[in-house]
Amino acid sequence: MGKITIAIDGFSSTGKSTIAKQLSKALNYIYVDTGAMYRAVALYALNYDLVDDVKLKTDDLVNALSKVNIKFVPNNQTGKSDMFLNGKNVEQEIRTMRVSRQVSKIATIKEVREKLVAIQQKMGTEKGIVMDGRDIGTVVFPDAELKIFMTASPEARANRRYKELLDRGDKVTFDEVLKNVQERDYIDSNRKESPLKKADGAIEIDNSDMGLKEQLERIHNYALRLI
Ligand code: C5P
Repeated sequence: MGKITIAIDGFSSTGKSTIAKQLSKALNYIYVDTGAMYRAVALYALNYDLVDDVKLKTDDLVNALSKVNIKFVPNNQTGKSDMFLNGKNVEQEIRTMRVSRQVSKIATIKEVREKLVAIQQKMGTEKGIVMDGRDIGTVVFPDAELKIFMTASPEARANRRYKELLDRGDKVTFDEVLKNVQERDYIDSNRKESPLKKADGAIEIDNSDMGLKEQLERIHNYALRLI
């Protein structure tokens, strides 16, 4: 049985990571959430006051990039991996609205993308990997055997994200979450460096009205046909 590379791209909160995680489990593949990596760099920038709602100190962040050490560490309790930033577990912190508000700005920076893409490509040299993000099928693994592009209406996506944040105890409003989803869509799709777009050969799945089980079955079947 040959191992393949699976690239799952799409808009914010389309459920990419849930699908990618379950798919990797079913195939016994490695799972990599590249959004977590951009979020960790954004958290670093926030911690060092290099970004906020009005400013972005691009040069200072680029100069500091060699000091940004990010790592996925398996968590035996959850069976998943946690993101560590310079030795500290930041898995919870990178998912907050504070980070969501800044991350897409940070992800427009060429040098940030180059650093993270290089790490991602290294993780995928052996194949047997499911990676989700915005540029996996276009830039990171343009030769991936299976490419999926996930979409859903902004309202459906904001609703999912809103519920997740409420469950975690974040005090947010639905409108705030919807605005953030729309802003990230805009920045991600219109940036100069690796904009979010459907990769050549990608299969598009609109899951506005599709359950998790159906999506997983479909993608799993696509994968099995290629393995
Ligand atoms: O996937 P997630 O929503 O956690 O990603 C957070 C942000 O990181 C995205 O809105 C996008 O700006 C950026 N990102 C990216 N390229 C990736 C993964 C994430 O630009 N491969």
